[in-house]
Amino acid sequence: MPQFNDTELTAAVIHSFEQTPDPRVKFLLQELVKSLHEYVRKTDLTFEEWEYAIDFLTRTGHKCTDIRQEFILLSDVLGVSMLVDAVNHRERDGATETTVLGPFYVGEHRTTPHGTDISATLPGERMFVQSRVTDLKGKPLSGIPVDVWHADDDGFYDSQKPTYATQGPSSRARFITDADGRFFFRTILPCSYPIPTDGPVGEMIIQTRRHAMRPAHVHFLVDAPGYQPLITHVFMEGDKYLDSDVVFGVKDELIARIEKRTDPVMPDGKPATEPWHLMTYEFRMKPGEGTAPKPMMAKVTEHA
Ligand code: BEZ
Ligand code: FE
Repeated sequence: MPQFNDTELTAAVIHSFEQTPDPRVKFLLQELVKSLHEYVRKTDLTFEEWEYAIDFLTRTGHKCTDIRQEFILLSDVLGVSMLVDAVNHRERDGATETTVLGPFYVGEHRTTPHGTDISATLPGERMFVQSRVTDLKGKPLSGIPVDVWHADDDGFYDSQKPTYATQGPSSRARFITDADGRFFFRTILPCSYPIPTDGPVGEMIIQTRRHAMRPAHVHFLVDAPGYQPLITHVFMEGDKYLDSDVVFGVKDELIARIEKRTDPVMPDGKPATEPWHLMTYEFRMKPGEGTAPKPMMAKVTEHA
């Protein structure tokens, strides 16, 4: 019967994966063991702390359903989601920066004519969004689907509302870029909002005196053949949570100045009936491959 001191134990567990047929799986498991053992050694983890961690992860698992992914939320608030994003997008070469997809990408992005008010039934300050998709040299990319989605004036996504099943999407649509790579639409100014705090992840955020807020943003997913899919947000300049996003998703280049306007017409020549805001942002696509993400969850996201 072998008996190990603590460093021999680490070596033995690493060795136990030696016959793993897939070299990448072998590497990932052996590195995981190294990091976990190092953590236990460095912290002198007590039995109570180990039990707490097991219970926390068990509760995280129990909170997951087909409309709620508490493990991704955990990954988000620990900065792991943004780190995975960073190591997979190391060289941007001038392409637009990426950020987290988030749980509210639920599909249902219907192709919508340019200029449509995608939040027509919602209260809020009106905003006109004008945008263009180009390659790294500024050549417009036409015929490209761009999915957009954002929270409402109260910080909720359409898919979080009980009315979603009957009323369908709002503040969520797909536009196809025109011959100049452009697309534009009307909507409302989104506001900052908290991530769900009614589960173990929210409990951790509250108990550790962090806040649960994300700064106001609009999500964009641009999927052009021959280019890497671009998953990103555009954040509103001046938001008070830009420096402390609970999921660490903000990048300087993704912050847009939103202009306050009082012109009687909007950029597409149609009348404005009240003061409005203008968001202007261009997306630069990086050549390459990749598959745009499929929604991870059912269409309705749990209300929290
Ligand atoms: C979001 O932006 O929709 C989001 C991202 C990560 C966690 C929760 C929400
Ligand atoms: Fe969001």
